[in-house]
Amino acid sequence: MSYLKKMVDILLGLQWGDEGKGKIVDVLAPQYEVIARFQGGPNAGHTLEFDGKKHVLHQIPSGIFRKDCINIIGNGVVLDPIIFKKEIEGLAPYDIDFSRNLYISKKASLIIPTHRLLDAASERSKGESKIGSTLKGIGPTYADKIGRQGLRVGDILSASFQKKYSDLLARHKQVLEFYQYEYDLEESEKNFFEAVEFLKSFNLTDSEYTINEAIQNGQKILAEGAQGSLLDVDFGSYPFVTSSSTTTAGVSSGLGVAPQKIRDVFGIFKAYCTRVGSGPFPTELLDETGERMRQEGREFGSTTGRPRRCGWLDLPALKYSVMLNGVTRLIMMKADVLNIFEEIEVCTHYRLPDGSLTDQMPFDLCEEKAEPVYKTLKGWHTSLEGLTRFGDMPQELKEYVTYIEKEIGVPVTFVSTGPDRLATVSRDPEL
Ligand code: GDP
Ligand code: IMO
Ligand code: MG
Repeated sequence: MSYLKKMVDILLGLQWGDEGKGKIVDVLAPQYEVIARFQGGPNAGHTLEFDGKKHVLHQIPSGIFRKDCINIIGNGVVLDPIIFKKEIEGLAPYDIDFSRNLYISKKASLIIPTHRLLDAASERSKGESKIGSTLKGIGPTYADKIGRQGLRVGDILSASFQKKYSDLLARHKQVLEFYQYEYDLEESEKNFFEAVEFLKSFNLTDSEYTINEAIQNGQKILAEGAQGSLLDVDFGSYPFVTSSSTTTAGVSSGLGVAPQKIRDVFGIFKAYCTRVGSGPFPTELLDETGERMRQEGREFGSTTGRPRRCGWLDLPALKYSVMLNGVTRLIMMKADVLNIFEEIEVCTHYRLPDGSLTDQMPFDLCEEKAEPVYKTLKGWHTSLEGLTRFGDMPQELKEYVTYIEKEIGVPVTFVSTGPDRLATVSRDPEL
């Protein structure tokens, strides 16, 4: 029966973001007609590499370089028009037909310049306990959405947009005064209104219809996650999280896709862990090993340039994310970064303050200290360059992958061995 067609796959991060989502969406995109972002905003930085060039996307879905893909910025996204304009201008050399290939939901939330100021003011007021936000205005914009006072992309087409903007601005100014936060809005407001005019020339639609019509027409859709499951507003290490639902559940509300339309969930993770910003990170390595990982993996933020904190793979955290998302296929990224290590540690359990062991995520990792318990595996200690078949990979890497599959109970479909599109080893002949 056509209404039961399952046409939506999801690709999302299982750790604290920056797992390599952009790269794999670009790799998988030729198999889909539609690529759709369902949450987050310009806090995301998704890197793609091909033909010797690197591209970082923030709000535009990572299918944009594939001529046959329609890209949708869904209603669950918070969109900054100024950053959007810059992104589009940066794509000018690529001859992309945005009128055919890009749609933006009228119900997506609009980030206005004072949202960024509020983000900065809130972070400053928290001092040592700041979230480490990307300062893109994400938290304040989602707060306005949930507080039922935000602006949406579709509002820019309304005759009363200026009034709606001024009303929200007046509220924001009061809060900024409370924070005693000094600012000068002139330049950013000018850029904002220019960018809003620019935005009007794009396809602004009720994208829930676009997507459901695509499903009805038998087209395949890939929902592209931003951030990672451990930054989810409900299940992440609250309050050190982002402000959206980064898990599978966010796809239904962030695109208007009913749960029974969802087929595969690709869960993507690094062969180790990184985190940018504040908050608990049980396997963090504050020593030379962590520094070597950071240098070898070039672990510096794609959006803010901040050094990423690094540590060994955390299986209790990975199991948790797989459970929450209903992951059907795993994708292991950055295996090549571990080439430099003779031995690889994997956290199998946490030891709690009372001495007991658990493989579940404690309620609050800030209050409850969880000491990682490690299993040591032999490293492969050799280059992976040029390998295209899993069967040709070093035995120790195959064992690492098999061990993770056994622990998690989900197959690893891809192993990524470098930033380029082509450095991707598939274990499924159909993909
Ligand atoms: P995203 O936010 O999940 O899309 O990930 P980011 O783009 O923020 O960060 C991933 C980084 O790792 C980018 O610089 C990618 O170019 C790079 N990358 C992706 N896959 C691999 C890989 O398999 N090996 C290496 N060495 N780098 C990779
Ligand atoms: P992608 O999509 C890694 C982190 C920030 C901060 C916390 C809250 O590239 O994986 P926010 O600006 O959302 O209020 O910040 O979340 N964060 C990310 N970390 N990758 C991201 O996106 C992130 N987006 C937000 O560093 O700790
Ligand atoms: Mg990123």
